[in-house]
Amino acid sequence: MTLHPDSTSSLVSSSILHHTLRADNPLKLGIMASGNGSNFEAIAQAIKDGQLAAQIQVLIYNNPEAYAAVRAERWGIPSVLLNHREYKSREGFEEQIVKTLQQYDVELVIMAGWMRLVTPVLLDAFPHKIINIHPSLLPSFKGVRAIEQALAAGVKITGCTVHLLCLEMDSGPILVQAAVPVLPDDTPETLHARIQVQEHRILPIAIALAAQ
Ligand code: GAR
Repeated sequence: MTLHPDSTSSLVSSSILHHTLRADNPLKLGIMASGNGSNFEAIAQAIKDGQLAAQIQVLIYNNPEAYAAVRAERWGIPSVLLNHREYKSREGFEEQIVKTLQQYDVELVIMAGWMRLVTPVLLDAFPHKIINIHPSLLPSFKGVRAIEQALAAGVKITGCTVHLLCLEMDSGPILVQAAVPVLPDDTPETLHARIQVQEHRILPIAIALAAQ
């Protein structure tokens, strides 16, 4: 499926408008999530709807309470809990993540609400093959509580970014961004809800771009 300007909001970065959502071969995805998992589900839905030629091999989650695991079960997608609290070092934790991703034959790794910093162990195992989604227009508002940071700064436009992962937090080449206006009465919750609508649109597009 090709994206035309008419079929998408002008708020999505225009450089993606002529790219295709369809990868040549179904891409084997590994998703990493820490919480709710709505982005995980948006990817699953985009695949189901034929917008993205990919398959989700496995969901890795690090928080036993993560609702993402419930979603994975509903979709019949394998999920693996790797609880970082049970590992002595970040590196040991990531060695287990890498092992799991390799066991499931993953080609592209998607951090969809993964709330852990990474080390070279993970990055070196999947060079240029890990993407991350962040709820701001990077390079603004890196790190935790990005939406609260945007509200505190008084910006009138914020949004979301999908980028290739690198060691420096919330950095790395940008694949797709979408802008979201900040409304006068916005709370972190109302603004996050509107940002998430855009996240769910741009993440499948970014996956297709990263696959090319
Ligand atoms: C998303 O808004 C994502 O941008 C953010 O966590 C949320 C996860 O939502 N990620 C980060 O803040 C990473 N720095 P979800 O669990 O519903 O997909």
